[in-house]
Parts: sequence; structure tokens; C-alpha cells
Amino acid sequence: MSTQAANVVSEPPQTVMPLRYTRTAMVLHWLIALLIICNVVLGLTAESFPDSWVRRIVDTHKSIGITVLGLVLLRILWRVSHRPPPLPKAFPKWEHMAAHIAHFLLYLLMIGLPLSGWLHDSAWKDAATHPMHLFGLIPWPRVGFVMHLDPVLKESLHDRFGALHTWLGYALYALLAMHVGGALKHQWIDKKSVITRMVP
Ligand code: HEM
Repeated sequence: MSTQAANVVSEPPQTVMPLRYTRTAMVLHWLIALLIICNVVLGLTAESFPDSWVRRIVDTHKSIGITVLGLVLLRILWRVSHRPPPLPKAFPKWEHMAAHIAHFLLYLLMIGLPLSGWLHDSAWKDAATHPMHLFGLIPWPRVGFVMHLDPVLKESLHDRFGALHTWLGYALYALLAMHVGGALKHQWIDKKSVITRMVP
């Protein structure tokens, strides 16, 4: 075949759809997943630790949460600058839709959870006398306008942001169950793995 004929049949590289996520996307995906699992465990169990541990556990929870927020922002940058591999065409349309909606909501929750935690912590009455340090090392600001509100309003906001944080947590558990359940269904029932697209 002449070079000219070969050019006609082969697609230009930028239109070739990727089959797997890039290494950066994989690292961000699994790192964020691991940190979120750690944070759910720490958030749910913090109060059951001995009193002398609670402060350190909650501080670690906050530090991991802020780290997740930063990593999710990087992940969103990756997402808007790259085309993710499309789902196999064999999957029904509703599954494509469900996956897109679940992914979008997961992004919202991965932003909303740390932000609500940060707001909850900024409305804490003792925030001013207990400055926050990421992993005990790097000074991290509270949300200034919340910290300086009138104490009565701040106390009520502390409760509301805390409740929001808890409810966003429930929504996260439901979506994670869908997300993992969907991946396992493709793996075991449809016998068409999508997990391999996200592992090196
Ligand atoms: C990946 C992000 C995060 C996840 C998945 C997460 C998850 C959770 C969960 C599941 C709880 C327990 C809620 C309950 O049982 O009512 C919790 C509590 C809490 N979270 Fe977060 N959180 C995140 C980020 C943050 C951030 C960034 C902060 C603050 C800067 C924060 C501050 C708190 C506080 C103060 C509590 C109450 C802990 C206690 O005293 O028992 N969270 N979080």
C-alpha cells in the first residue's frame, strides 16, 4: 500500500479514543479513593477513641479532607483537559446515563464534603484559640467570615454545617455503593471489565 493510501485509511491520532485512563488519572483516582475511605473511618470513629486521642484524630481527619479537596481540584483539571475512555458500546444507554450522572454527583460530593467540613470547623466556637495545621505542620486558615460571625449565629451555623456534612456523607455512601456495584456488575455479570481501564 502506498503511503498516501495508508494516510487515507488510518485515523489522525487525536481522534483515536483512549481505551484506558492515563497514569495521572489512575493515581489521582486511587489516592482520592483511599483518602476518602480513611476519612470516613476516622470521621465515624473519632468519638470512640480515648479522650487524649480525639483531638489528634479529628485534626488528621481535617488534614486528609483538605488534601482530598486539593486532589479533587487537580482531578477536575485533568478531566476538563482530557477525554476519558468511552464506556463499551455494548452497554445499554441507561447505563451510560447512570454512569455519567453518578460521576458528576461524585465530583459534587467530593467538593461538597470537604467544604462543608471546613465551614463546620470554621464555625466552631474554639476555632480562634485552636489554629488548624495540616498534618500538624502547615498553618491552614479557617473561613474568615464564618469565624468572625456573632457567637449565637455561629453556634447555629456550626450545627447546620455539621448536619450538612453528615448528610453529604450518607449521599456519598449511596453513590459509592452504586459506583462500586456498577463496576462489579460489569466485571462479574456482563463479563466486560471496566476496572482494567483504571488499573496500571
Ligand atoms: C474527603 C473529605 C471528607 C469526608 C469523606 C468526611 C467525612 C466525615 C464523616 C463520615 C464524619 C462523621 C459524621 C457523622 O457521623 O455525623 C465526619 C465528621 C467530621 N468532619 Fe469530615 N469529612 C471530610 C472532610 C472534612 C474536612 C475538610 C473537615 C474540616 C476541615 C472536616 C471536619 C469534620 C469534623 C469537625 C467532624 C466531626 C468529628 C467529631 O468530632 O466526631 N471533615 N466527616
